[in-house]
Amino acid sequence: MTKKSVILLENVSKTYPLYHHIQGGLKNFLLRLPKALKSTIETKFEALSNISLSIQQGETFGIIGKNGAGKSTMLGLMAGVLKPTSGRLMIDGRISPLLELGGGFHLELSGMENIMLNGVLLGMTRAEVKKRIGEIIEFSGLSDFIDQPIRTYSSGMLARLGFSVIVHLDPEIFLIDEILGVGDMSFQKKCLEKMMGFKTKGVTMVFVSHSISEIEKICDRVCWIENHCVKMIGSVSEVVPAYSATMND
Ligand SMILES: Nc1ncnc2c1ncn2[C@@H]1O[C@H](COP(=O)(O)OP(=O)(O)OP(=O)(O)O)[C@@H](O)[C@H]1O
Ligand SMILES: [Mg+2]
Repeated sequence: MTKKSVILLENVSKTYPLYHHIQGGLKNFLLRLPKALKSTIETKFEALSNISLSIQQGETFGIIGKNGAGKSTMLGLMAGVLKPTSGRLMIDGRISPLLELGGGFHLELSGMENIMLNGVLLGMTRAEVKKRIGEIIEFSGLSDFIDQPIRTYSSGMLARLGFSVIVHLDPEIFLIDEILGVGDMSFQKKCLEKMMGFKTKGVTMVFVSHSISEIEKICDRVCWIENHCVKMIGSVSEVVPAYSATMND
């Protein structure tokens, strides 16, 4: 059976504007406005350059690379929270993203209220969230703290809350950025088991991690991003040793 491609990037680039101090004072800037504006517009920073890749339905796809390489930018593009500057991006399926710690949460609301809010924002009905809320809290292991405002939560507790909501959405395409690292060992184990369960069910997953052992455990293929470009895409056994070898430099 040929599997269909559910995430497709063709020559995708993403640039951010680079912000400068106005040199020579505001008056000087205004006097030479056209030139000054032109130089401001021209200085852009390319966070991702000419990326082409295709992820098949049911695949678990890892993204690795050094800090600042462009991994989160890539997930942001797949999640639709960032728009590519050029190139084509196609996503076929319902995306469930977990992109940043506490992302989409409100600090003054309780854990329980945040579950309701996030569940609804991410596409469940209120009735569905209500039906599953016991299960979500149970999975998070946060029942003793669930009525506290989440500004009192530790980073690991925020990761637990975020992950627990997202895995109960019945995702089709699950995007997860480097969140499990702040969870303790028992939670990481629980998350990996959940993700293995998704894998068996054929959920497509894109997983950014600095934990090579997690990547090795769950991914089928890996993309190594280096200096904002694709350095290598291939099986875990091809890409991970090549990447690890550069870590000692
Ligand atoms: N909103 C932004 N404006 C300007 N530059 C940005 C913005 N977001 C990211 N960048 C830059 O884009 C590059 C890639 O950032 P990105 O967050 O994708 O890296 P990363 O691979 O996820 O790194 P890490 O491993 O540290 O999470 C970095 O150089 C970063 O400074
Ligand atoms: Mg990142």
